[in-house]
Amino acid sequence: MNTRLLVCDATHFRIDYEINPYMDTCVQPDPAAAAAEHAAIVAAHLAAGRQVEYLPSVPECPDMVFTANAALVRGHRAVLGFPPPERKAEMPYFQEWLAGNGYEVIEAPYPFSGQGDALACGELLFAGYGQRTDRRMHAVLARELDYEIVPLHTVGPQWYDLDLAVAVIGNPHTVAYCPEALDEPSRRRMRGLGLDLIEVSAADAAGLALNLVSDGTTVTMTRGAPDLAAELRARGLDVVELDTTELAKGGGGVRCTALTLDNPPAGRPA
Ligand code: ARG
Repeated sequence: MNTRLLVCDATHFRIDYEINPYMDTCVQPDPAAAAAEHAAIVAAHLAAGRQVEYLPSVPECPDMVFTANAALVRGHRAVLGFPPPERKAEMPYFQEWLAGNGYEVIEAPYPFSGQGDALACGELLFAGYGQRTDRRMHAVLARELDYEIVPLHTVGPQWYDLDLAVAVIGNPHTVAYCPEALDEPSRRRMRGLGLDLIEVSAADAAGLALNLVSDGTTVTMTRGAPDLAAELRARGLDVVELDTTELAKGGGGVRCTALTLDNPPAGRPA
């Protein structure tokens, strides 16, 4: 799982607006440090044996480094994101890349945060709603990508995307999540799936600990959440912890910077 990823770069990463509670236009990333951080994430993916595709970022799109919001891809089909107005200018670049690389691109009819609000777990899709994603998108994702939807509602804008509150680890059925970030019906839904669940504190989740990339063997995550890292190592996973201080100024972490390109199609093992 998650072995082919699309990334941009941090060259034009800036805080020009505030569309999540982590962003503050008075706190700008240091360009060199942000570029180094991003390069270290890409290097970690490559070291883990993942394939990384690269789309250059453009000056007018300061959030383009966060490629996870561009779409949700399964098999050869991609449902494009429908972002807030501040990020609309990114979409033609992603649309063009996906279409040019053989994906059938489907436009989202309602607001949709792409993979930020949609985490594939085998045939299941943990699907956020109520912040950046309109709940009506769930039927669209079920129809277009053939997932079984597990709707999850986060309790506030601190969890503006579900990938800050839930992380699919794999190996084979481990999922880490922050119970406090989900409303009660969502927590119940999560606990009813028969998964191996790891609970993460709200403080660690707000530090973007859950915004990680896992291929079921190696977990690439932010530094600063030793409890989660220890839980994962106890399950036999290799854990690589990286500094994400600059990216955090945009409200994103490791996972936000990578769009998964190889979610297995329906009926195929993860
Ligand atoms: N500044 C970006 C935004 O608010 C961060 C996106 C992070 N992406 C994610 N998948 N959580 O849109």
